[in-house]
Amino acid sequence: MHPATAPGGLPLLGHLPAMLARPLAFLDTLPAHGDLVRVRVGPRDLYLVGAPELIRRVLTDRADFDRTGPLYAKIRTFLGNGLASCPHADHQRLRRIVQPAFRHALLPRYAEAMTAETAALTARWQAGRTVDVTREAFTLTTAVAVRTLFSAGLTAEAAERLRHALDVLLRGLYLRVVLPAADLLPTPARREYRRALRAWHAGVAAIIADYRARGVDHGDVLSLLLAARDEDGCPLAERELADQVATLVLAGAETTSSALAWSLRLVAEHPEVERKLHAELDAGPAGEPARWQHLAQLPYTAQVVSEALRLYPPAWAVSRTTTRPLVLGGARLPAGALVVCCLYLLQRRPELFPDPTRFDPDRFAPGAVHRDAYLPFGLGATRCPGDRFGTVEATLALATVAGRWRLRPAAEGPVRPRPRLVLSPGPQPMTPTDRISGPAG
Ligand code: HEM
Repeated sequence: MHPATAPGGLPLLGHLPAMLARPLAFLDTLPAHGDLVRVRVGPRDLYLVGAPELIRRVLTDRADFDRTGPLYAKIRTFLGNGLASCPHADHQRLRRIVQPAFRHALLPRYAEAMTAETAALTARWQAGRTVDVTREAFTLTTAVAVRTLFSAGLTAEAAERLRHALDVLLRGLYLRVVLPAADLLPTPARREYRRALRAWHAGVAAIIADYRARGVDHGDVLSLLLAARDEDGCPLAERELADQVATLVLAGAETTSSALAWSLRLVAEHPEVERKLHAELDAGPAGEPARWQHLAQLPYTAQVVSEALRLYPPAWAVSRTTTRPLVLGGARLPAGALVVCCLYLLQRRPELFPDPTRFDPDRFAPGAVHRDAYLPFGLGATRCPGDRFGTVEATLALATVAGRWRLRPAAEGPVRPRPRLVLSPGPQPMTPTDRISGPAG
């Protein structure tokens, strides 16, 4: 059987204009056409899947579905052969080397950086002075990523240069993935993208060279990676090391900032949730920046983050390429077909989450189980190793911000999600007002 095709595609461009202009509104139309829908993006076909059993197969059947093909080739121009973009053949070895950086025992140390950076961020805010919450969240998580990855040898200017390059690259990558021709035209945007790519590679190489020259264990992720050895006792090659660093910043920073930005927005729009959240925060950290030790007192805050991750999964589309002709969901797919597991569609299926568009953190009350229906961190061997890192960071940051400030949207109207590789809410001007009588009020 041929797969159903999404309606409304234009000649030549297919569904590209819709994917760029209003990606979520477009996705919302797809479930009506089945569990596997063909979407045309310029000359290419994508096969979008949102059903739990199909997603489980694509993410766990590593022989039939790999991280190869033109999409991953494009991502590798930035990330190289990093853990998140390498083909399955290289995956096990890299995963074994990188995984120890996420040991549970290291989290309290990473949490110190999260607490310090969030406290610094919220201390800069002023009552009544509007901030772009999405940008602030991104500044926070990139600062935390940079500080936990390479705590030493980075000046504030160098960190800012890296952060800026990352921002440009993240914006440019989505466009290049859906529109490969973006790289062919000599536009100012292409020049900016290429400049950012060079700045990123040079910045990371300089940090690694500095660590090697000093030869000291700084107790951070880069020190761990420098000391790591594979099964044969070999360290990571220079290029591989840089690729893992780029991957960890990319995979960790915008996903977590997006989770935080959506959480803050959803709380501001739901007074009942805000009231419960404030009650928990007033009984727990009570206006202090939230720390690792507070986490046990913050179950509802964590539920808010989980529910934001359900409605707006930052990794909204996890892709694989078929390694042979096969049948998926009753439809025949050729070898080399790009299959996109759409976690956004999965987590909004009404039979899995009744009244799916409603924001309700109580869905994640203690004891709730959403196996295979709730996969914001993916599934199988490539499941996110930074899941605890990301949720701890978003929970502590939400607790610190909401404990101190009440945020209100400064502009009327709905959020306009930005089409990027990560599902980001786009600019969100919000105005903080004081919840506690602090010195900076
Ligand atoms: C809320 C935050 C986060 C979300 C929603 C998220 C989501 C995901 C998902 C869905 C995958 C699976 C991709 C695939 O199967 O191809 C993944 C993989 C990955 N994530 Fe995360 N992530 C988050 C935070 C982080 C953080 C904080 C880090 C690192 C500091 C990180 C590092 C990685 C890496 C390295 C991979 C690749 C794993 C592999 O292929 O073995 N993530 N993430």
